[in-house]
Amino acid sequence: MVKEAFIVAFRRWGASGKLGNRTLTTCRAVVLPRFGGPEVLEVRDDSILPDLGASDVLVRTHAVGVNPLDMRMREGYGRSLFEPLLPLVLGRDVSGEVTAVGSSVRHFHVGDQVFGALHPTATRGTYSEYAILGEEQLAPKPESLSHTDAAAIPFASLTAWRALRSTANIQKGQKVLIMGGGGAVGLAAIYIAKAAGCYVACTCGKRSMEKVKEAGAEEAVDYASLNLKDQFRAKFDVVLDTIGVPETEASGINLLRRGGQYMTLQGETVTYTDKYGLIAGGAAAAAALIKKQMKYRQSHGIEYWWPIMRTDAEGLEEICRLAADGRLKIPVGQTFPLEMAGEAHQARDGKNAGGKVVLEVERKANF
Ligand SMILES: NC(=O)c1ccc[n+]([C@@H]2O[C@H](COP(=O)([O-])OP(=O)(O)OC[C@H]3O[C@@H](n4cnc5c(N)ncnc54)[C@H](OP(=O)(O)O)[C@@H]3O)[C@@H](O)[C@H]2O)c1
Repeated sequence: MVKEAFIVAFRRWGASGKLGNRTLTTCRAVVLPRFGGPEVLEVRDDSILPDLGASDVLVRTHAVGVNPLDMRMREGYGRSLFEPLLPLVLGRDVSGEVTAVGSSVRHFHVGDQVFGALHPTATRGTYSEYAILGEEQLAPKPESLSHTDAAAIPFASLTAWRALRSTANIQKGQKVLIMGGGGAVGLAAIYIAKAAGCYVACTCGKRSMEKVKEAGAEEAVDYASLNLKDQFRAKFDVVLDTIGVPETEASGINLLRRGGQYMTLQGETVTYTDKYGLIAGGAAAAAALIKKQMKYRQSHGIEYWWPIMRTDAEGLEEICRLAADGRLKIPVGQTFPLEMAGEAHQARDGKNAGGKVVLEVERKANF
């Protein structure tokens, strides 16, 4: 009964492209009722969908990429922001079909195949039969990609874009080192730096050597090597450290030329806000970052950053173009039905997924 009303409501939206009389606001989703291990994830048929805003797009999800952020949020990372909002729907990536659009949406129509990602702080995620994203958070899905392959791309690639293009402003001919080139962000970073005309080197595990070479890395060094500093031919203009532990930070900074830029994806803003609350923690994080920036400017003459993924329409457009041309690929390691999100998290926790883990949303014939 509830599902029927839901279908009727969405068909009405679909026909008009407007919100009209909204009669139903729930759908099936994987919900996080409390922080904990993969076992806490629950499938619910009555997850509440917020109202569609004027610039929002309602997407019927076909596939959802699983990101490290999802696992960390499940364990309580970001609790200062998310705890009051439990039960939460996790998930940032989505690939699917437009089912309804807000009144000011210009670039998408009902029936369009799209992919995209939510911002890290979005309060309702994509582990759901329907997801709501802003128009600027979506791009047309390249026809050459399945929904499953497309769902592996946006969050990781936009993170790499944010670091390399928006923060470091990489330029043709620069030398870029990606630490952790074998992961989803690392691979996307290699493709993005190559597309910008940079010379790219990376560190990765033995099992990732082929992948990073295929992505275009000119040099790849096993991260288990001793004296990483001696393994590379030259100093770098930019280092993107996706691992961000003290050892990689020390190596990365010593591999930069003076005037170079080091970026770690393990910024401490959320750690501080979880510990001291949003306001005091935010101030403490800003102070910690400034302290590090001053320290490294003085000791090494380099710039130090904590870039955070941000949705970016221009970035997504370029990522979409690269993916359509086969110049950006994030291999999918394992897929699971949406209902098995807990098992998917377990597979990721085990670190043997061999590529991105993607949830596929199967639905009954009348959906
Ligand atoms: N700041 C942000 O906004 C932001 C956004 C997205 C992600 N992140 C963070 O960035 C990290 C990477 O995300 P992801 O999606 O790329 O994860 P992922 O696909 O799971 O990749 C992680 C990779 O790290 C590699 N690795 C582990 N230890 C390493 C080391 N010591 N040196 C070099 N490589 C090492 C592994 O490579 P091998 O397979 O080659 O062993 C693994 O494939 C995560 O910690 C995530 O939380 C931050």
